Amino acid sequence: MTIEATIVIGSGTMGRGIAQVAATAGLTTWVYDANSEQLSGAKAAVEKSLSKLVEKGKLPSETADAAKANFKLCASLDEPDWSKVGIVVEAIYENFDAKTALYKDVQSRLRPDAILASNTSSISITKLAAASDRPSKFIGMHFFNPVPLMSLVEVIRGIDTDDTTVETVESLAKQMGKNPLRCNDMPGFVSNRVLMPMINEAAFALMEGVAEAETIDEIMKQGCNFPMGPLTLADFIGVDVCLNILEVLHRDLGDPKFRPCPLLRKMVDAGHLGRKSARGFHKY
Ligand code: 3HC
Repeated sequence: MTIEATIVIGSGTMGRGIAQVAATAGLTTWVYDANSEQLSGAKAAVEKSLSKLVEKGKLPSETADAAKANFKLCASLDEPDWSKVGIVVEAIYENFDAKTALYKDVQSRLRPDAILASNTSSISITKLAAASDRPSKFIGMHFFNPVPLMSLVEVIRGIDTDDTTVETVESLAKQMGKNPLRCNDMPGFVSNRVLMPMINEAAFALMEGVAEAETIDEIMKQGCNFPMGPLTLADFIGVDVCLNILEVLHRDLGDPKFRPCPLLRKMVDAGHLGRKSARGFHKY
């Protein structure tokens, strides 16, 4: 199936990034958000990002102009032309009830052959799929922040996802300039199952006084060649998001090795959420 149009639901950091790469790939792209303030911020952010990519020689200016023309904000789900939409990518906050309530609304409009994809970082794809009307056409399409710069899309297959859906999503990811890699549905998939214990351990190292935050980050950058240290990365992702993913890993895999560091909890309680609150492990 060739996909010509998409609706991205959720216009936060991830949703706007996904919409940007979809519009750049030539898809008519609607972005919907119930939060009108967040939605209006998405347009300016995408235009700024496209200009930056042009400035750096990473994107031809005609492609950026075409992407701007393909990119449409919608304040209501009545606005898009649903007959053209081959895939909906949901990128709202990590809450099972909120996501499944949204699917009910989406499904009543979505073509029966269209795919429903979630950008969830930690909720079971199989469980979300089972709450939808199309488990065989439900899939995880997990992008990485900042979406326009990161090449990977983790493609997560739920227990009932069919081969055509996996293949269609892989070819769509390639059209978006991404490299899709498949994995099965297990808590945290591959990326967060491996990444979050490292961030957690860095938080334990800080809490136990092994080194200052700056030193922990520099040791991992200079010693392991990471582009940013684990605590800087946690600030970038959001300390609350990291804690939430660790809680899912701890609960669903039942292994004490995933126990969230108490310092992460304390920081979330204090509102030290990282870059978005101007304070996390570092100050911004
Ligand atoms: N669009 C366009 N440009 C952007 C951008 C965007 N959305 N976001 C950042 N940039 C630009 C910045 O403005 C900056 O431009 P400047 O050089 O003119 O100031 C530039 O990118 C950043 O440049 P840097 O020199 O700092 O770094 P690099 O270009 O070498 O790399 C990076 C940037 C790719 C973000 C790199 O720092 C990196 O790989 N960081 C790690 C990111 C990562 O691990 N992400 C995954 C998080 S986990 C996740 O998302 C999963 C979730 O489920 C938790």
